[in-house]
Amino acid sequence: MARITVIEYSLILLVFTTAGCGEKADPLSGLAGIGSPTTYVQDVKALLDRHCLPCHSTSKSGAQRNGAPIAVNFDTYELAVANIERANVRIQAGTMPPAGGLEPAIRTIILDWLATGTPRGEP
Ligand code: HEC
Repeated sequence: MARITVIEYSLILLVFTTAGCGEKADPLSGLAGIGSPTTYVQDVKALLDRHCLPCHSTSKSGAQRNGAPIAVNFDTYELAVANIERANVRIQAGTMPPAGGLEPAIRTIILDWLATGTPRGEP
């Protein structure tokens, strides 16, 4: 009779407990639950703040922008929505931020947000 060893059992458990976490693996959005829609407030704002605002912010000018186009900013919901299509092209291509693209799990958050119509979320 086939028996599952402790090691095999642990591996199976590991696979099941980590499966499904991929889509919302952004460490910045730890509160985003599996199955909840991707929203600006819960998921997107933190990653734009961290990865894009160092250059693409209305509060930055001149050399502070590190060459980022003056009209491409992500510091409000409205600006994020206005620029997310072109941003997504660069994010999925792995060419923004310039120092190295975002990890796949974060790219997926942007894809999810676009797919659901860029909701703002609460509050
Ligand atoms: C270190 C500064 C820096 C950071 C951080 C950065 N960018 Fe950029 N970004 C630039 C520069 C410089 C350019 C212009 C050169 C180019 O297009 O590659 C640019 C251009 C762009 C463009 C092209 C604008 C156009 O004309 O269509 C988009 C879109 C963009 N960035 C999005 C983002 C997003 C989204 C993030 C965060 C995930 C990000 N960038 C992070 C510096 C930055």
